[in-house]
Amino acid sequence: MKTIIEPFKIKSVEPIRFTTEAEREKILRFAHYNPFMIPAEDVLIDLLTDSGTSAMSARQWAGIMDGDESYAGSKSFFRFERVTRELTGFRNIIPTHQGRAAEKILFSIIGGKGKIIPNNTHFDTTRANVEFTGAEAVDCLVEAGKHPEVRGDFKGNMDLAALEQTITRSGVENIPACMITVTNNSGGGQPVSMQNIRETKKLLSRYGIPLILDACRFAENAYFIKLREPGYAAKPVREIAHEMFSYADGCTMSAKKDALVNIGGFLALNDDALARQARNLLIVTEGFPTYGGLAGRDLEAIAQGLEEIVDEDYLRYRIRSVEYLGERLLAAGVPIVEPPGGHAIYVDAKRMLPHIPPHEYPGQTLVCELFRAGGIRSVEIGSVMFGRYDAATGSLISPPMELVRLALPRRVYTQSHVDYVIEVAEDVARRKEALRGFRIVEEAPMLRHFTAKFEPLSVK
Ligand code: F0G
Repeated sequence: MKTIIEPFKIKSVEPIRFTTEAEREKILRFAHYNPFMIPAEDVLIDLLTDSGTSAMSARQWAGIMDGDESYAGSKSFFRFERVTRELTGFRNIIPTHQGRAAEKILFSIIGGKGKIIPNNTHFDTTRANVEFTGAEAVDCLVEAGKHPEVRGDFKGNMDLAALEQTITRSGVENIPACMITVTNNSGGGQPVSMQNIRETKKLLSRYGIPLILDACRFAENAYFIKLREPGYAAKPVREIAHEMFSYADGCTMSAKKDALVNIGGFLALNDDALARQARNLLIVTEGFPTYGGLAGRDLEAIAQGLEEIVDEDYLRYRIRSVEYLGERLLAAGVPIVEPPGGHAIYVDAKRMLPHIPPHEYPGQTLVCELFRAGGIRSVEIGSVMFGRYDAATGSLISPPMELVRLALPRRVYTQSHVDYVIEVAEDVARRKEALRGFRIVEEAPMLRHFTAKFEPLSVK
């Protein structure tokens, strides 16, 4: 088989700045060893997130110029609405400035004290928006999804038995909706099968509970279904995506992922009464329902992005480049969440650096070393992000996994950039025994990973 090449050529470029190891050591010290505090200009390859970091196409940029900035009834809104409705099949399409704004509006209406929202795995902002209303966010992920070394085709699937237990235990009247996140970002970017979405819907229908998709990475999920699920190999991805949406009663969407834009999102709902309430809230917090916190040009770019994302040459290249990075890291002895997900590789820092205990932050250690050695920015998803302190003893309670996410922005880096990342990781892996952990010297009471300051443990 021939190399799967980038299915585009480059019309506009953005230079990246090269730095020396000595410079990067200084940059790290200045940033208190926290990647969120490193100025982006000092980063060589930025794998912090795949969100809002996509390269837009020439047609999207043309759409930007073509944006209609009318306050009400903008033609760009009608294009956005038509494209989104045709793709998803949902009746009401409500634009928002990003995914979490859609979550905030939805849960402000259906959440509240005593309510429970199940999901395969809630993303942090979804969980936060559910919990902010006083409701409880419950994860019902299949067992395989919790084991990084276990290979499986659909490790993002909902555990149907756990979901039914949640429903019967909590009382159906307390569950205003159930979500499925495709792909499961917090669980390694793993996909959910069509069969699982269908069966989840069937179960929920018996109890009259609506299903809402967290659809950020719907196209990557649809492509995995095409590759892995019997009966879908010959179906166009667009049709597969349409079928996924057909089992749901609505979705929240961060257009910053699979709509290939730098800002935007939407809430889509079949229920007209719920949509009316959502639009009323939208007017208070985001804007008039035909722009919802966005400019007309943003709506044009989203509409165009949603047409481009289901292109199968693009998806083949997208999924293959993530898989290629994963395969090469495994070959270099770097353990990862297997199999590779759709948008990112998650390195298993706990297995890679067993000599660094969770309270010395193995993930943060790897994040800092990837930057120091190669100018690569990644993010820890482990004890820094999710660690809590025991109220009685003050000792750290760690999450089950210590991961480092290498998220690939869409259409931004070429294969030689990925090869460079692999070379840096190989170099770090060869010297891993010599790495030492970190301690936190300053932290916020909530979401500490964004602002915490660290100190290397070798420095006394
Ligand atoms: N749901 C999922 C599954 C996400 O991954 C994100 C964002 C959101 C909702 C919220 O969307 O950022 O537009 O408000 N994920 C980004 C990330 C931040 O880096 O994974 P948003």
